[in-house]
Amino acid sequence: MSGNDSSFSIHARELGSWENFIYLIHDHATGRAAVVDPAWDVPAILDMAREQDVRITDVLLTHSHPDHINGVEELLAETDAQVHLLKAEAEFWGACPVVPTLYHGGDVVQIGETPVELWHTPGHTPGSACLHLPGHLIAGDTMFVFGCGRCDLRGGDPEQMFNTLRRIGEALPGETVVHPGHNYAVKPTSTINEQRAGNPFMQFDQLPDFVHYRMHEHDRVRNAPYAAVDRATLTGGG
Ligand SMILES: [Fe+2]
Repeated sequence: MSGNDSSFSIHARELGSWENFIYLIHDHATGRAAVVDPAWDVPAILDMAREQDVRITDVLLTHSHPDHINGVEELLAETDAQVHLLKAEAEFWGACPVVPTLYHGGDVVQIGETPVELWHTPGHTPGSACLHLPGHLIAGDTMFVFGCGRCDLRGGDPEQMFNTLRRIGEALPGETVVHPGHNYAVKPTSTINEQRAGNPFMQFDQLPDFVHYRMHEHDRVRNAPYAAVDRATLTGGG
C-alpha cells in the first residue's frame, strides 16, 4: 500500500501482534526516508527500505506507547537515523532510550525536500503527534479509520481528544488521506471527508456526549473491524 505525491511516497507495513502500521516516508529527490513508529520487526522495516532503495535517515514517533517504539533501539543500531519527537511526549514518556530532537506543535521536520509538519494532537497521550504532509495525515493512535485511540490509559484525556478530532476535521481539506496507527478497520486508509461522515468520534457536537461515548459506550457496542457509523444511530435519532 502506498500514497503517492510528486515529491514523496508513503509506504505501509502491518507488523506485530496488535496490527500496527509502520510507515516509511520516501523523499524522491534525495532517496532519504523516515520511519514512523519503528516497532515489532526491524528486519522487516529494513527490507522495506531496501525494496524502495532508500536510506533511512530519520525516525518520527507519533507517541511513546511500546507498540509504536519497541524497535527504535534496534533500528538505531542499524542506521544513523535521527529521532524526532514532541517535547510534550518526551516529558510524559520520561524514559526515551535514545536522544531525540524535540519539537513543539507546528514545527516542521524536513526529510530531504519533503516537509513533515508535527501537529500536537493530545488525547490518547499528552504529547501525541499527527504528521501532516501535503495531502496526507499520518495519525498514530489519534485517529483510526472510523475510530480513535483510547483515552482511558495513563495520560489519556477524552476532553482533549474531542478538541483534537474537531481541530483535525476543521483544518484539513476533505481529500486528505488518513493513515492510521493500527489496521483496525474495514480498509487501511481513508480520507478526511469519509471520516467526517462516518467516524463516530467526529459526530458529537457536545463534549459530554463524546466523553460518555468514548469512556463508557464505544468498547461495549462496537468491535473491529470498524466500519462507518451513521450519525443518527449514535445520537439516538434514528
Ligand atoms: Fe497508543
